[in-house]
Amino acid sequence: MKLPVLPASSFGKDFLWGVATAAAQNEGAYNIDGRGLSIWDSFSRRKGKIQGGAKPYEACDFYHRYKDDLMLVKALGFSVFRFSISWSRILPDGMGRVNKEGIAFYHRLIDECLALGLTPFVTLYHWDLPQALEKEGGWTSHSLLRWFTRFVTLCAEEYGDKVKHWIVLNEPMGFTSLGYMLGRHAPGRTGLNNFFPAIHNAVLAQAEGGRLLRHYVKDAYIGTTFSCSEVMPYTDKEDDIKAAQRMDILLNRLFVEPALGRGYPHNDFPLMDKLYLHTKAWKYTERMQFNFDFIGIQNYFALTVKHNPLIPYVQASEIKAASRKVPHTAMGWEINADSFYRMLKRFWMYGSVKEIIVSENGAYFKDELKNGVVNDVQRIDYFQQYLAAMYKAKQEGANIKGYFTWTLTDNFEWAEGYKARFGLVHIDFKTQLRTIKNSGYWWRDFLKQ
Ligand code: BGC
Repeated sequence: MKLPVLPASSFGKDFLWGVATAAAQNEGAYNIDGRGLSIWDSFSRRKGKIQGGAKPYEACDFYHRYKDDLMLVKALGFSVFRFSISWSRILPDGMGRVNKEGIAFYHRLIDECLALGLTPFVTLYHWDLPQALEKEGGWTSHSLLRWFTRFVTLCAEEYGDKVKHWIVLNEPMGFTSLGYMLGRHAPGRTGLNNFFPAIHNAVLAQAEGGRLLRHYVKDAYIGTTFSCSEVMPYTDKEDDIKAAQRMDILLNRLFVEPALGRGYPHNDFPLMDKLYLHTKAWKYTERMQFNFDFIGIQNYFALTVKHNPLIPYVQASEIKAASRKVPHTAMGWEINADSFYRMLKRFWMYGSVKEIIVSENGAYFKDELKNGVVNDVQRIDYFQQYLAAMYKAKQEGANIKGYFTWTLTDNFEWAEGYKARFGLVHIDFKTQLRTIKNSGYWWRDFLKQ
C-alpha cells in the first residue's frame, strides 16, 4: 500500500492516538509492595520456556519510572496511554485480601496521566493471572467467573470515577491458545481439556466484564480486544482453501462472534463442533454477548497456510513469510498492510460493531543503538504503510475511532524474553536507559501536523 502524504489531522479531530503497554511486560517490581506472583513469574522459572532464561521481574521498571515514561508518551505527542492492571498487584491471592499499596500505585499512575492531559485507557486483563488462581485451575476453573467478577468490580469501584475508557480482555485467542493449548505461554498447559474450558470462560468473562463495567462506571466507554490475521491458502486447491477457512475460524471468528450474539462459529469445522457440544454453548448465547461500545482490533501479521493432515484438529500448517520471500519482521511475521485494510473492513461488515479502535499494531525489527541513535527505518516504513491502510478503510466507511502503537518502550516480550524489541523507545536493560528511536521521532512529527 502506498502512503498518501497525510497529516494525523486527516483522521479527524477526535481521533484517539495512543501507545499501548501491559503490566506484566513493563512494570517489573514483581515482589515489591505486597504484590503476589503472576503466572508469568512462575512460568519464567521453568527451564527452556523463555528465550535466554529471561524473567519479567524487573522488565522496564515502569513501577518506579512511570513518571518519566509518561513524559515520553507526552513528548512523542500521543494523547492516550493504554496500560493494564496487574491482578496480583491489587489482589495478591487473586481473591480476598486487597493490597492497598497496589491499589495506590494505579491511583498514582492514573493521576499522573490526568495531570499530563493523557487519557488513561485501562485493560483489565492482559495475560497475567495471579499464580494463586492458576493453582486452583486458572482459566479452566468453574470459579473463574467469580474471581474475575471480584477483580473487575474492585477495579471499577476504585478507578471508575477517573477512568472512563476500558478494555476487558487483551486478545483471548492469544492467551487461551498459547497458554492452554500449545503450552508456549504461561501457564504452559496443553490439550483440549484445558483449551475448551479456557475459551469458554474467556468468552463469558469478556461479556460479563462489559456488564460489570456498565453497571459500576458511569459514562464508561467499554470495549474488548481481538487479535486478527488474514489467512490465505497457499494454493487454490480445495484442501488448502479449506485449511485456510479452519484457521480463519480459530484466529478471527472464535471470540468476536459470541460477543456479537452469534454464538460460536461451529459449522464446517469438527473441532468447533466439539467445543460447541463440550460447552453446551446453545445455553449461553445470551450470556456470551455484550453490546460493546467499541471493539479493539489488534493486527501483527497475515498468514498463508496449506493443508497438513499431520497437524491435529486444524490440519493446516503455516508457510513462513521468509520461505515465500515476502516482506516480514524480525519475528518472521508477514508485513502486509493490504491484509490489515481487509481485516478492518471485514470486522466492520459484521454490522453490529459500533466503533473500532486499532488497539495494537507494531513490529519488531533488529534495532541497533549506535552513538545514541536507533535509526529504525523499517519500523517507520511499517507504520506508514499500516496507517495508510487504516485511512483507506476509514474513508470507505469503517468507523475507526483510534489507533494505538505497540509499544512505548522495548519490554518483556513474553516467551521471546527481552530479545524482541517492539518499542518506539529503546531500553538498555542493564541500565534502564531510555533512547527514543527514530520511529518515535517520526511519530512526534506525524502527530504534530
Ligand atoms: C500482545 C502483546 C505483545 C504483542 C507482540 C500482542 O498480541 O497483546 O502483549 O507484546 O502482541 O507480540
